[in-house]
Amino acid sequence: MTPTTDSSLGNPGARSAPGTPTADAAGAEPPHPDYGHVRSYVRRRGHITPAQKTALERLMPRWAIPYRPEPLDFAATFGRPAATILEIGFGMGETTAQIATARADENFLGVEVFNAGVGALLKRIELAGITNIRIIQHDAVDVLRDMLPPDSLAGVHIYFPDPWPKVRHHKRRLIQAPLVALLASRIRPGGYLHCATDWTNYAEQMLAVLSAEPLLRNTCDGYAPRPDYRPRTKFETRGLELGHAVHDLIFMRIPAVP
Ligand SMILES: C[S@@+](CC[C@H](N)C(=O)[O-])C[C@H]1O[C@@H](n2cnc3c(N)ncnc32)[C@H](O)[C@@H]1O
Repeated sequence: MTPTTDSSLGNPGARSAPGTPTADAAGAEPPHPDYGHVRSYVRRRGHITPAQKTALERLMPRWAIPYRPEPLDFAATFGRPAATILEIGFGMGETTAQIATARADENFLGVEVFNAGVGALLKRIELAGITNIRIIQHDAVDVLRDMLPPDSLAGVHIYFPDPWPKVRHHKRRLIQAPLVALLASRIRPGGYLHCATDWTNYAEQMLAVLSAEPLLRNTCDGYAPRPDYRPRTKFETRGLELGHAVHDLIFMRIPAVP
C-alpha cells in the first residue's frame, strides 16, 4: 500500500493537502513505536498522475535517499558541505522548490511519505534544474531518530502539518512534546525551527509545546511575522480564503546546559 496522508480525516468541513483523499480511516493506525508518537499520516493509496509516477521511477535514484537506520553524512549526500535545512511534510513540494532555489547556498532535505507529493517535487527539481534538494520518502520520526545526528541541522521547516481537527485525533498531530524534544536535539545551537499553520487551535498547541521545550527559545513575543523566504502557496491562499488566520512560529535552538 502506498503511504499517503489526509489532513481532514473524518471532518467534511476540513481541508486536505492538495491531492489527498478524505475518507475516514482513523483508528486503524498503530501507535508509532517510539516517542509515544501516533502516526501523523494515514497509509492509503492516493491519486498519482502518470507524470508523477514516471518522475518517481526515473528520478528517485538521482535525488532520493533510502531510509536506513544509520547517520546520514550531509556533505557526502549533497556533494558539498553546507548548512542543511530539514523540511518535514513538503506535500507537493511547491514551497520546498521555491525556497531551495532562492537559498542556493544551503542544502534542503525534504521528508515526505506521500507518493504523489514526492513525484511532484521530483518533477519540480528536474524542470527547474535544482541541485540542492534531496528527498527521503519515509516517516520523519524515524528519519530524525535514526538518520539525523544530534546538533546537525541549521534549520527545520514544518509548514501546514496535517491539522487533525477533531479532538480525538489531536494525538496524531506532529507537533507534540516528545517529537519537539527529538527535533530540538537534532538542530545545532543557533539553528531554527520554523512552523506555520492555518489552524488557530493547532497554532496555540504549537506555541505551548515549543515554548515548553528547554532547548528552544522563541525568537518573537508569541507568533512571528511570515518571513520573506516562506512563499505564500496555493494551499495557504486557499486557507486564507476560508477565513483561516495563518500563524508562523520561529524558535531558536539554544546550547544544552551542561
Ligand atoms: C497538510 S500537508 C502540507 C504540505 C505542505 N507542507 C504544504 O504546505 O502544502 C502535510 C504533509 O505532511 C506529510 N506528513 C505527515 N506526517 C508525516 C510524517 N510523519 N513524515 C513525513 N511526512 C509526513 C503528509 O504526507 C502531508 O503531505
